[in-house]
Amino acid sequence: ALVDKANYRHFMAKEIHEQPEVVGHTLARYVDMATERVSMPVKLPFDFKDIQRISITACGTASYAGFVAKYWLEKLARLPVELDVASEFRYREAPLRKGDLAIFISQSGETADTLAALRYAKSQGAHTLSVVNVPTSTIARESETVLQTLAGPEIGVASTKAFTCQLMVLASLAVAAGKARGELSDADEAKLVHGLVEIPRLMSEALTTEVQIEKLAREISKSRDVLYLGRGTSYPLALEGALKLKEISYIHAEGYAAGELKHGPIALIDEHMPVVVIAPYDKVFEKTVSNMQEVAARGGKIILMTDAKGAAEATIQSLVTIVMPDMGATFAPIVYAVPVQLLAYHTAVVMGTDVDQPRNLAKSVTVE
Ligand code: AGP
Repeated sequence: ALVDKANYRHFMAKEIHEQPEVVGHTLARYVDMATERVSMPVKLPFDFKDIQRISITACGTASYAGFVAKYWLEKLARLPVELDVASEFRYREAPLRKGDLAIFISQSGETADTLAALRYAKSQGAHTLSVVNVPTSTIARESETVLQTLAGPEIGVASTKAFTCQLMVLASLAVAAGKARGELSDADEAKLVHGLVEIPRLMSEALTTEVQIEKLAREISKSRDVLYLGRGTSYPLALEGALKLKEISYIHAEGYAAGELKHGPIALIDEHMPVVVIAPYDKVFEKTVSNMQEVAARGGKIILMTDAKGAAEATIQSLVTIVMPDMGATFAPIVYAVPVQLLAYHTAVVMGTDVDQPRNLAKSVTVE
C-alpha cells in the first residue's frame, strides 16, 4: 500500500496524530508567516467587497467545518452565510444570485450530493469555490476556484485530519475576507494570523490529553447515549463530536447548542447519560457553566474540555476536566477537535469495533 499505518493500530489514530504536521502544511500555504498576512495561493476571481452573501454546502463532517466557518465569516468579515447540507440544498433549489459566492467543502471531492449542489450553483451564475483534499477530484475540476487542504490521503472512514485542515483553510479565508472588506485592520490581521500560526503547536499539546481520554473512554463505552454541548463555534464541534462517536462506536450521541438544553434534551439527563461539554474560555463561557450546573443538578456526569481550569470545578461536582492549552477563543475548534476525535476513537477501541471501516459506511458517498 502507498500509505501504511506506521506504528499505529489504526489509520484513524495515525491521522489524528498527524494533524499538527498537516495542519501546519496547510497553514503554510495560506498565510505568510514572516509578514503575518494571509495570502491565498490562487487569485480569487471576485472581490469580497462585492459579495453580499455566501452559501456553504457540504455533507457530514465537512458540513460541520462549514458551520464553524459561518461563525468566522460572519464575525470577521460581517458577511451573512447560509449553511446547508448538500442533499437539502440541491433539491431546495436555494435562490442564488449571479455573483453570490457558493462554497463547497469535501475531503474526497466526489460526494454526489455536494457535486450536484456545485453544478446547481454554477447554473445560477454564482462564483464557486471548493475546499477539497483531492485536487484531481470532480468537485475540484468543476469549481471556479479550488482551495486545497494538504491533509494527505485520509484512509479512516471517520474524517479527522481533513476536518482540521478544512478549518485551517476556512479560517484563513475568513481573515482574507475580513481584510478585503475593511472589517479587519492590518493589526487585526497580524493578530489573527499569529493565532493561526500557533495552532500546530497547540494541537501537539492537545494530543497529550490522550492518556486521560483513554481512561474516560472506558466509562463512555458503558453508556447507551452521550450528549455533546457547546456554544458559538463549539456548537458545530459538538455536532461533529456526536457524529464521530456514533459512526465508529455505534453509541447514540447527539450534539446540541448548550443554550437549547432547557428546550428539550435536559429531559434525558440522569446519571447514565454522560455529557461532553466543549467550552474554551470565551465570552459565553459563564453561560455554559450554568448549563453544566443544570446537568449536574440532575445527576448527569460531565466531561468538560476547557482551558479555564478551576473555573467550573468550584461550583460543580461530578465533573472531569480535560485541560486544554491556553489560547485565544477564535480558532479554538481547530485545537478542540483533537480531544473530541480521541474520545470517539478510544471509545470505539474499547468497544472493539472496526474503527477504520465502520459498518454501513463508505469513505466517499458517490451515490445518492
Ligand atoms: C465523516 O467522519 C464521515 N464519514 C462523513 O460524514 C463525511 O465527512 C462526508 O461523507 C463528506 O465526505 P466528503 O468530505 O468526502 O465530501
